[in-house]
Amino acid sequence: EYLRDFRGISQLERELERRLVLKRVTIVPGDSDLDPTVKKELARATAQYLQGILQAGMTLAVTGGTTLAEVAESLPPSRDPWPITVVPARGGLGEEVELQANSVAARIAQRLGAQYRLLHIPDDLGEEAVLALQAEPRIRELLDQIKRADVLLHGIGSAEEMARRRGLPAETVRLLRKRRAVGEAFGFYFDREGRVVYTTSSVGIRQEDVPQITHVVAVGGGRSKAEASLSVISTGGQDVFITDEGAARTLLEIL
Ligand code: G3H
Repeated sequence: EYLRDFRGISQLERELERRLVLKRVTIVPGDSDLDPTVKKELARATAQYLQGILQAGMTLAVTGGTTLAEVAESLPPSRDPWPITVVPARGGLGEEVELQANSVAARIAQRLGAQYRLLHIPDDLGEEAVLALQAEPRIRELLDQIKRADVLLHGIGSAEEMARRRGLPAETVRLLRKRRAVGEAFGFYFDREGRVVYTTSSVGIRQEDVPQITHVVAVGGGRSKAEASLSVISTGGQDVFITDEGAARTLLEIL
């Protein structure tokens, strides 16, 4: 607490809430680009916030990524079952298994003592096969539950890094550059104004589902994610932003 006040972090939180029009901004001290322990703190703050808003009967949709995987690790293992269902926000986005939304959803559910339902749709299916799978009653019902989630917890990626990590073809990378994509969240790529400029062919939550979700919590830190955070928050769908000082201070400079 002393460190937070000394660095004026509470003030920074209120200023970002006001300027980004968010219900709540939480900032952990430091910059996760420079110090990996800051990412752990970011994850811990997110885990704590999550535990505070979850209630019996809720559906929690989560994305993948290293930050979300860290959130799962930070949740204290629950001794009692909790009637909550955790689902992946979207199907595969070309990440390695540990970083996929399915894996993170299962891990978070285990920690919370919750149930989970996974989306078993391979990344590399053709459009027709995806449509056929989506018509399957059980998959359709799960997709419906995902769209009606009470809480959406998602990571923020810089467009360039995500395109590289997910091995998007050179042609797509060029397109992203041409359209000035800077941020990424749940498989959507956004320009600085928050316009969707590219969509990954995957099933699950779509941009138009987000406003109906009561708690949309974006988490991402490090100054390298400042512009990406601005682009994702500019979509207007987020309620809460959990970040670090590195991203927060850079954000204020570019706002
Ligand atoms: O969509 C955003 C990415 O999943 C963020 O990934 O947490 O590994 O930076 P990261």
